[in-house]
Amino acid sequence: MVTDEELVAAAREACERAYAPYSGYDVGAALLTRDGSVFRGCNVEMVTFTNTIHAESAALGAAVVAGHREFEAVAVASGDRDGVTPCGLCRQTLAELCEAGFRVLCDVGDGIEEWTLDDLLPGAMTGDEVATRE
Ligand code: THU
Ligand code: ZN
Repeated sequence: MVTDEELVAAAREACERAYAPYSGYDVGAALLTRDGSVFRGCNVEMVTFTNTIHAESAALGAAVVAGHREFEAVAVASGDRDGVTPCGLCRQTLAELCEAGFRVLCDVGDGIEEWTLDDLLPGAMTGDEVATRE
């Protein structure tokens, strides 16, 4: 079983791999699957800015390519330990495969601030609206 503290520790480790030469703002994420695996991601910045890969997206991509589609929680850590939460784009990205009760753990340095995906993106558009259209 992966504890919340271990998941945050994995996000902190991922943060150390961040490539953020333009903003200097390093971010790491660790995504916990329903069956107990952890996938990490970090931000990878591009000089053009818009196609920068966010830590949460990188972690989700790593999990999906390994065959996972069911998720329990994500931990997010910045180099500043400032309790960074997923940005708006990442909230929608997580909503693609994570349910409303999916937990988001934010590293605030001396503790963990916890949200649900529904807290961060209430009333999210889900695949259901599009997939059930006839
Ligand atoms: N960043 C993430 O990786 N995830 C987020 O959800 C917040 C923002 C990165 C993108 C950029 O490299 C840096 O943080 C500053 O915005
Ligand atoms: Zn983001």
